[in-house]
Amino acid sequence: MNYTIAIAPGDGIGQEVTEWAVKAVEKAAPAHHFNWTKILAGGCAIDAEGVPLPPKSLETALACDALLLGAVGGPKWETLPGNLRPERALLGLRAGLGVYANLRPASLIQELKDACPIKDEVLKAAHPQGKPEFDILIVRELTGGIYFGERGRGKAENVLGDYAYDTEKYSRAEVERVLRFGYEAAQKRRGKLCMVDKSNVLESSRFWREITAEMAKNYDGVETSYMYVDNAAMQLVRAPGQFDVIVTSNLFGDILSDEASAVCGSIGLLASASLGDKAPGKKYIAGMYEPVHGSAPDIAGKNLANPLAAILSGAMMLRYSFGLETEACAIENAVRAVLRDGCRTKDIAGSGKYIGTTEMGTAVLAAIYPAEVLR
Ligand code: IPM
Ligand code: MG
Repeated sequence: MNYTIAIAPGDGIGQEVTEWAVKAVEKAAPAHHFNWTKILAGGCAIDAEGVPLPPKSLETALACDALLLGAVGGPKWETLPGNLRPERALLGLRAGLGVYANLRPASLIQELKDACPIKDEVLKAAHPQGKPEFDILIVRELTGGIYFGERGRGKAENVLGDYAYDTEKYSRAEVERVLRFGYEAAQKRRGKLCMVDKSNVLESSRFWREITAEMAKNYDGVETSYMYVDNAAMQLVRAPGQFDVIVTSNLFGDILSDEASAVCGSIGLLASASLGDKAPGKKYIAGMYEPVHGSAPDIAGKNLANPLAAILSGAMMLRYSFGLETEACAIENAVRAVLRDGCRTKDIAGSGKYIGTTEMGTAVLAAIYPAEVLR
């Protein structure tokens, strides 16, 4: 098959890590043809065109079958006003592509258990089966809520003076569609869905809860539970083994997914997929794939970045956009194999020896057995 993929390397280490994702995808799926089209997004777009997301970049991304993104941002652009910052490119791409369900898996990687900051005894004590394992899928709503709500500033005539506000607004349709993703994922996993909110305080959260309760009736095989976000933040470090799928709003998902990545031991390993529906006339669902980590300007260009999250994002693309499960597994197995062999980039080396981006990328490529061989 032929696939057209937009690639937005972005800023900082984005360039170095996406390069390896491209190579891994090509190696894992030699029977397919990938046509990569580079687009500008983030700080590099500000430098070249004066805006974080030039219209042409979004047009190209919309015309392609999927989008692979590196990372955006850096100190160079930090003083720009909010709507001109590199991060706006991410929001523009998410909204423009309609990728409302952001899947962020966070699981304990056995080969990297030492990097997990939580004591084995704690993990074991809290696990339903007394195991240290955890395997969580965070499904974060990505195109609504407070990220996209009305915001502004003003001046009151009383002692309070200046003010600023952001608003959280969710429609039923927005909540239902992301919950549907969550429930379908839970059906394929361990059959548990926890909806995280702040319904003891927020009206929008109470709305989420009502809708979840209604939808739960249609998913017999899935056990639905509810948790306040402050408690969920605590439970993630106290007993991550209790979670299977977590569904939550844009802002809570942002915060909890960073926390979950720290629980795993390294943000350098976490990939993410942002998915939407299939637009009329399109062959595949809308999909945007990116590492969870940022642009890490301090280590950019130094051959120090961990390319694994980007490589694993490539695997997610093969799986979720194109249904190439065997090919996706070929990449994931290769990543596990190199970790088993002791390959470590600096972020996951602890005080031990480490290798560079290029060496890690090369090792993964060498460990990928194309799907044709595995079949
Ligand atoms: C993320 C990031 C972004 C977000 C920022 C960079 C806008 O933190 O993808 O989690 O908040 O969504
Ligand atoms: Mg974040």
